[in-house]
Amino acid sequence: MRKVTVVGAGMVGSTVAMRIAESGLADVALIDIQGDLARGKALDISQALPLAGSSSSVEGGEDYRLAEGSEVVVVTAGFPRQPGMSRADLMGRNAEVVRKVVESAAAAAPESVIIMVTNPLDEMSYLAWRVTGWDRHRVMGMAGLLDGSRLAFLAAREVGAHPAQVQPTVLGSHGEAMLPLPRFTTVAGVPLDQLLPPRKVQELCERTREGGAEIVSLLKTGSAYYAPSACAARMVEAVLRDEEYLVTASVLLDGEYGLKGVFMGVPVVLGAGGWKRVVELPLNGEELRALEECARLIGGRMEELDGWLARS
Ligand code: NAI
Ligand code: 2OP
Repeated sequence: MRKVTVVGAGMVGSTVAMRIAESGLADVALIDIQGDLARGKALDISQALPLAGSSSSVEGGEDYRLAEGSEVVVVTAGFPRQPGMSRADLMGRNAEVVRKVVESAAAAAPESVIIMVTNPLDEMSYLAWRVTGWDRHRVMGMAGLLDGSRLAFLAAREVGAHPAQVQPTVLGSHGEAMLPLPRFTTVAGVPLDQLLPPRKVQELCERTREGGAEIVSLLKTGSAYYAPSACAARMVEAVLRDEEYLVTASVLLDGEYGLKGVFMGVPVVLGAGGWKRVVELPLNGEELRALEECARLIGGRMEELDGWLARS
């Protein structure tokens, strides 16, 4: 059986592990600084597998030797948002966690593909790439799939269509510069901005941008995990099955969309070995300017991380 490691056995990590194990896609190593938490969740997930008809093995603990032989490592370790916090507010605390976790995971599974989940997503994906020094195709962040899924849900409900008929496109950052694109979001092939009046389209885009905060304010402690875990597990599946799945992920740009040296959400083709190529949509001037503004914001925080890495 193939193997996937999930680091962080909290709400997102444990549900990613559960989804992968229940589907029988791979064996799972669940690693957390709280070893017993990981062991307990691994055991609990394992005891559901007879009903799921899956023979995946799920091992939990704090030891990175569990990760040996993994083809994909999903990093969810770190602190989630509390009401009133932005994702960027998490940067200082989570940078420490991500550096340690990624160093250990990369040493244990040196051939793996890393899918980052920890926030702030684009910045933590950059940090993971810096820490590993790997080829850019092997390190990416999960967010655009989630933001798109949120837009697809909202649009389907508004239009009265089946959610699976919506093909969403949300680029940019997993933060204030998130860029839902109504021209490239289609319902059964028809662009959203041709189906709904501009005010309604604007409303759906705004609610998508605030989708994470809306759930944080309802949960009161912690942030979303059912949809995030579904998205991370879907990306793992695309890599393991070498699907050439078109998905928006946060990746290091090298000239695509006229941007270089910045991590942000763009459509990529995902399969064995990581993301294979960026797909460049024919954006108009306004959309391109919004993407550039997003690059400016993320780039500034990447420089802060460079400074922090140089000092420590
Ligand atoms: P959680 O608090 O439930 O779980 C985090 C886990 O990380 C805890 O079990 C904790 O013990 C563990 N951890 C902390 N430091 C560690 C270390 N040094 N080594 C190993 N494990 C460590 O949080 P939750 O809800 O699972 O969220 C995790 C992260 O994912 C947060 O940063 C959150 O903001 C982010 N997130 C990102 C999303 C995205 O779309 N990219 C969506 C949802 C959450
Ligand atoms: C979300 O969008 C908190 O980033 C997380 O739900």
